Amino acid sequence: MNCAFFVSGRGSNFEAVLKHIKNGDLQIKIPLVVSSSETAAAAETAKSENIEVFYTNKENRQKILDILLARKIDLIVLAGYLKKIPDEIISAFKNKIINIHPSLLPAFGGKGMFGEFVHKAVIERGVKISGLTIHLVDEKYDNGAILFQKAVEVKSADTPSDLAKRILSEEHDSLWRVIKAFSQNRVIINENKAEIVDE
Ligand code: GRF
Repeated sequence: MNCAFFVSGRGSNFEAVLKHIKNGDLQIKIPLVVSSSETAAAAETAKSENIEVFYTNKENRQKILDILLARKIDLIVLAGYLKKIPDEIISAFKNKIINIHPSLLPAFGGKGMFGEFVHKAVIERGVKISGLTIHLVDEKYDNGAILFQKAVEVKSADTPSDLAKRILSEEHDSLWRVIKAFSQNRVIINENKAEIVDE
């Protein structure tokens, strides 16, 4: 399975997936990383692994689809990608784009809900359980069918960054498993619901 990662920043989820490819847990190829930022650490990681990086900007957005098709990409993984995915990519890769989000969707998702904004909102609302969601991507932010969720306790003394750290560590242990399920055809999608079956 050829997987493309879309990134905008740090890329710790991308690194965690690379680790699981290297240790043999996950058998996929990553021929392409698409980065919305010239300075993203994730793009540097990709280059150091000799993975092709395509930097997106307003002018070249139409080219992304051509490159994805040319590199024979089977699955697109949004791992901290902050830009909207053009509709033509969503149509061409229906049910083949996943995103990881640091809350239990549909709570604390949508436009503007990324990074520390999510954890700040969770703590301000007094929510006791947060977590992560890995879901399919459709035309609306954080809206597609849910593939996987994991709960993480919100402690009363948590700052947004404390909570972010605990959730991120669970993200690192979750994303590769969902990618693996795709690579083994263990994902069943039924309209707006999705399910992963055991190995
Ligand atoms: C993660 O918290 C992920 O859930 C969200 O953006 C963050 C990306 O972190 N979509 P990193 O770039 O993978 O370190």
